[in-house]
Amino acid sequence: MADVKTGEPLLSVKDLTVSFKTKKGMAAAVRGVSFDLAAGESMAIVGESGSGKSVSSLALLGLLPRSAEITGSAVFRGEELIGMSDKKLQSLRGRKIAMIFQDPMTAFNPLFTIGDQIAEAMEVHGLASGKEALSKSADLLEMVGVPEPGRRIHQYPHEFSGGMRQRAMIAMAIANKPDLLIADEPTTALDVTIQAQVMEVLADIRGETGAAMILITHDLGLVAGSAERVQVMYGGRVFERGTIRSIFYDPRNPYTQGLLSSMPRVDNESDRLVPIVGTPPSLLAMPAGCAFGPRCQYRGEVCGERPAELAEVGIDHASRCHKGAEIPRWSEVSA
Ligand SMILES: Nc1ncnc2c1ncn2[C@@H]1O[C@H](COP(=O)(O)OP(=O)(O)O)[C@@H](O)[C@H]1O
Ligand SMILES: [Mg+2]
Repeated sequence: MADVKTGEPLLSVKDLTVSFKTKKGMAAAVRGVSFDLAAGESMAIVGESGSGKSVSSLALLGLLPRSAEITGSAVFRGEELIGMSDKKLQSLRGRKIAMIFQDPMTAFNPLFTIGDQIAEAMEVHGLASGKEALSKSADLLEMVGVPEPGRRIHQYPHEFSGGMRQRAMIAMAIANKPDLLIADEPTTALDVTIQAQVMEVLADIRGETGAAMILITHDLGLVAGSAERVQVMYGGRVFERGTIRSIFYDPRNPYTQGLLSSMPRVDNESDRLVPIVGTPPSLLAMPAGCAFGPRCQYRGEVCGERPAELAEVGIDHASRCHKGAEIPRWSEVSA
């Protein structure tokens, strides 16, 4: 899908790699990630902890430490982000691209009121100032469902509950009407009921602002109502990508099937939750073949020899697996 006016995607990432220089050698955290995101579209990146989800988005925003070596390309609204000057990146961040993190306590300064900080986010980019910015910050809090926003703009972060603080961070993220929201584990620190509410706020906000979203999560259960497409990452690579429908009803990759089997589902008896055995590979000791090979019940000889290619398996649907057609379909696995 492309922008109606320009025919270009909002964000086009091609062959992004990130390696960290460490004392024990180079750690390849992201190994050739590519995707396009259209204006207004929502894509989820899922995978276990350590699969490279956060590092890939931080790379786009120039927020990685200097020990990171980044290659590849990421074109946002026609401009290359990789190698962009700090000054330009700074002006994009929070204005055109905004991030929502897991822990709002790190996003907010404990010494300033919530209202002042949301106002400041607007003032930095020159989009509003003074009383106007403060009154806009109350409007934003109202948009994300914070009750009594006129009173709560004068409160400090610690006076907000976890869920309310996360709403406030969403308010701050949309203050400058960004084209792209990157939400990295936005509800991981919250109770399940609050999680659902915050996801609903995100969906409403996207509906109102038309912002595109990259939702990063280890929890596949969060994804269904929140994204149109899914990218499943493992060991720094995309193992499967597709529409919500294809990923949830016709997953072709053993890793995606494993993630689904380990997830509580309405149509899954709780005694059939099957965790994926083993742990993700160490970045410094990646298997020579398929990174998931050592944990995969379908592995064969070739899987130990070289990584598989990401190959089309249907419309808008691709999977990285040597055993492609031999993998049982999900309808058989989950029956
Ligand atoms: N500054 C860093 N130096 C070295 N390794 C890092 C650094 N930041 C992240 N990593 C490693 O990169 C890998 C991917 O991390 P990350 O993208 O945060 O995973 P996740 O999918 O959980 O978001 C992990 O193995 C992590 O330890
Ligand atoms: Mg992460």
